Amino acid sequence: KSYRVAILGATGAVGTELLELLESRNFPIADLKLLASQRSAGKTLKFKGENLLIEAVSDRSFENVDIVLASAGGGTSKRWAGVAVEKGAVVIDNSSAFRMNQEVPLVVPEVNPQAAASHKGIIANPNCTTILMTLAVWPLHQVKAVKRIVAATYQSASGAGAKAMEEVKTQTSAILQGQSPVAEVLPYPLAFNLFPHNSPMTDVGYCEEELKMVNETRKIFGSQEIRITATCVRVPVLRAHSEAINLEFETPFDPDEARAILSHSPGVKLVEDWQANYFPMPIEASGRDEVLVGRIRQDISHPCGLELWLCGDQIRKGAALNAVQIAELLIEKNWLSH
Ligand code: A2P
Repeated sequence: KSYRVAILGATGAVGTELLELLESRNFPIADLKLLASQRSAGKTLKFKGENLLIEAVSDRSFENVDIVLASAGGGTSKRWAGVAVEKGAVVIDNSSAFRMNQEVPLVVPEVNPQAAASHKGIIANPNCTTILMTLAVWPLHQVKAVKRIVAATYQSASGAGAKAMEEVKTQTSAILQGQSPVAEVLPYPLAFNLFPHNSPMTDVGYCEEELKMVNETRKIFGSQEIRITATCVRVPVLRAHSEAINLEFETPFDPDEARAILSHSPGVKLVEDWQANYFPMPIEASGRDEVLVGRIRQDISHPCGLELWLCGDQIRKGAALNAVQIAELLIEKNWLSH
């Protein structure tokens, strides 16, 4: 059986990756619609050697569609997800619009696939840093419950979209030519710089990105008890995020046991060569499906603490791949109807 799929936001950083993944994973497609804003209407994108026309999204876009993969920002998702669901489609949404909605499952297929079964037409794809962190922490949490997570992130430009990635390249070459970098997409120059994450600030002193890691991880793990704190930082890397994670358990967690668990956890690849001081790096995580995890070590400040370091492709597992895996899960389990 094959399915009628629409990509909303097909021209974006995640949209183009979705297109590539549907092709390379041989997703069973009967028909593919590429949707974006009026700005892109009439342009084309290649899929399986064919040029497909991009349409400006409208009410009629969602007729005869089984699965919508949406990655065009929260406002666009809020505007169109309901329309698509009404017409019978299942929407897998990359934006933050519905993630904390109690009716909407928030799914990482390697962690909580079962949650997808109860969807009512919309399934939310978690925040990128959250997805990457859950892949490494969940397998450990299955063996010994995590009490507290302290995370620091090093986030690439891709999280702010294709235009932000271009901006970092332009800024880099401007600086190399002795000119001043111009920041239009991101709030400050990112080339040769870094800054605390540019998501809106909240009144508790955490930016929204940091609170997403807290609230979304709790929802995905199905545990409101886990204490989580995060500091999110934007770094001049193009497309893979890195995270330093400190975990606290009830009792000590042997680093060798953690290593053994993570060496065969789904979606995770252990990357550690202690002699060579070789550990996950964003350039090696870019373009890969797995989250690279390493530097697993005893926290010397706490007997029940464990430290680890990870890198994962923000556009791939952090967004597009996770969404496609959710679609594959719905097909495999026969969970498309609502
Ligand atoms: P467009 O290229 O036509 O502006 P990114 O995350 O890389 O910035 O990409 C955002 C994606 O969302 C693009 O495909 C963009 O299309 C799409 N998009 C942005 N605003 C809208 C809108 N109002 N309606 C439909 N698509 C939109």
